[in-house]
Amino acid sequence: MAGQKIDGKQFAESVRERVARQVDYLQSEHKLKPGLAVVLVGEDPASQVYVRNKNTATLKAGMKSEEIRLEASASQEEVLEVVRKLNEDSSIHGILVQLPLPPQVDETAVINAIDPAKDVDGFHVINTGRQAVGLDAMMPCTPLGCITLLKERLGDLSGLNAVVVGRSNIVGKPMASLLLAESCTVTIAHSRTKDLPEVCKRADILVAAVGRPEMIRGDWIKPGATVIDVGINRVNVDGGKTRLVGDVNFEEAIAIAEGVTPVPGGVGPMTIAFLLVNTVTAACRAHNIQLPEDI
Ligand code: GUN
Repeated sequence: MAGQKIDGKQFAESVRERVARQVDYLQSEHKLKPGLAVVLVGEDPASQVYVRNKNTATLKAGMKSEEIRLEASASQEEVLEVVRKLNEDSSIHGILVQLPLPPQVDETAVINAIDPAKDVDGFHVINTGRQAVGLDAMMPCTPLGCITLLKERLGDLSGLNAVVVGRSNIVGKPMASLLLAESCTVTIAHSRTKDLPEVCKRADILVAAVGRPEMIRGDWIKPGATVIDVGINRVNVDGGKTRLVGDVNFEEAIAIAEGVTPVPGGVGPMTIAFLLVNTVTAACRAHNIQLPEDI
């Protein structure tokens, strides 16, 4: 029997509605308006689209949104100066510097200049360290979205075999940490993994984050597995057009799996929703506020 297409768009919408209710509560009960600043250096077209979407979603949730744009020629010192000002700004609870940065700017230095308490991307070395040892930490938005979706869909994940294909700092490694924290048996596979199809076939939960179009085929998937496709790859199709595909061959996967996230409309919309979640979390921590569970 064919599996289900997992509607990430609808899931993200429900998360955003909850965030909007939390923002209302913070304003009415604590006179607190969570604020997110996004820093964009240069004019990369994909980054401009992401930043615009983040801005729109932040305002729609009722939060303060600040967008800071610097020329592609900006020096590292100029970028660091913007970050320092935002660290000091008490109306800003979350800071995101859009990546990639131009080559003259050291990404690691910029990320690590962000106040870890405002690091809503969860990329600061303090947050990655805290993630690694299981302390409370800002988690990167995409893995946070994926684990929340998996828990909602499957309930208790303990004892399940989880395979994460991809070892990036942004998705693969934090995803593995979150799955381990849920007591999954976790394998991190990557481009050098031997017998990758066999490794994938052991997965009850398969998370694909390698950036290779439709690499994961139907016969790599265990019947009844849940498949989360984090890949976003633009491929050429006939007539000089392009289309977006994931790292998983969706049509083949859905015939075997319990559920598969599509591309687009799967993991993508969840990332922005969880950026808003992280901003509210940062604002609450900064003011020592506990949100009621039932909002
Ligand atoms: N560029 C592409 N994805 C991301 C992201 O999640 N965070 C940041 N800061 N830049 C990105």
